[in-house]
Amino acid sequence: MSTVSESLLLRAAQGHAVSRPPVWFMRQAGRSLPEYRALRLGSTMLEACQNPELITEITLQPVRRHRVDAAIFFSDIVVPLVAIGIDVDIVPGVGPVVAKPIRTLSDLEALRPIAGDDVPYVTQAVQSLTAELGDVPLIGFAGAPFTLASYLIEGGPSRDHARTKSLMHSQPELWHALLSRLAVIAGEFLAVQIEAGASAVQLFDSWAGALSAADYEEFVAPHSAAVLARVVDAGVPRIHFGVGTNEILRQMRAVGADVVGVDWRIPLDEAVRRLGPGAVVQGNLDPALLFADWPVIEAAVRRIVAEGRAADGHIFNLGHGVLPDTDPGVITAVVDLVKSLTL
Ligand code: CP3
Repeated sequence: MSTVSESLLLRAAQGHAVSRPPVWFMRQAGRSLPEYRALRLGSTMLEACQNPELITEITLQPVRRHRVDAAIFFSDIVVPLVAIGIDVDIVPGVGPVVAKPIRTLSDLEALRPIAGDDVPYVTQAVQSLTAELGDVPLIGFAGAPFTLASYLIEGGPSRDHARTKSLMHSQPELWHALLSRLAVIAGEFLAVQIEAGASAVQLFDSWAGALSAADYEEFVAPHSAAVLARVVDAGVPRIHFGVGTNEILRQMRAVGADVVGVDWRIPLDEAVRRLGPGAVVQGNLDPALLFADWPVIEAAVRRIVAEGRAADGHIFNLGHGVLPDTDPGVITAVVDLVKSLTL
């Protein structure tokens, strides 16, 4: 019998030879699946994220349907914040909305460290999932300090991150104090998932691409490095992802990432050139292309697998999450196509 450590995902993440790229999708669980929409009736997103049975079932749905090579833990980046009492709601069609945005030193008090007992449903769900998944790896995740800070400072999703950037530049002490606290929370949230059995983790810094490389290095990198350092001794692969981050890929690797997520804006061989020797990449099909005709999708998948050969390892994924209206049959077809391609 094969084991998780021999899985394509873990082997590729470590830069070992594999017969084909492993494939999974960000947001593979969610509204693209009718079985997800059925299961979610009657509970809010946050209620679902605090219910071990629902977490387990929702996480398994895309694995059963698409036969992907990894499961991603069903939760949200704001779940650890909710667990310590921050008033955040996930508004359908909008995203996280924070009742009392964090903008002063005294607001920081609310951001206390978390511990395993704050999120018992996470530990329980990871344990039941690893038992059910067998040799399919479970990826745990957390939101990175910058992306969490943006929601907390803005009070919700923001196109320009204006308040966030102005606080960063005009109150650097408050900024670093805030991000240090968020790094402790994110690091602990990853550690809880690894201790319960997750085989890899992904740090989502979805909005880091809004920053220049210089600002990323000064204001964000030390804190993301702290998150990834918190779990380095666990020895599980650490994936680091953001959107629009192609100008800061090298910096995102340097904070301690074993695998760097790449969006669709540059080819993977160009990403590898920017990252330097030994790079392992994840990506990078444009989620919008899943709405195109099949010959277009097939050509793009083949091109991405070919470009991924430039890396020491390639994990096939989208460049960002599955869009809610995506035809799940197309996702399954992409999985089958990737599985048919040999390196
Ligand atoms: O990838 C997966 O399948 C795992 C589950 C997952 C969710 N959120 C479930 C979810 C993961 C990894 C996340 C992380 C997350 N949450 C990020 C980083 C990844 C990214 O997309 O860049 C961000 C920025 C958030 C914040 C957030 N939560 C947004 C922007 C939204 C969408 C709001 C909407 O309705 O469009 C959410 C809600 C959310 N998180 C949903 C899911 C499945 C949709 C909730 C629903 O089903 O109604």
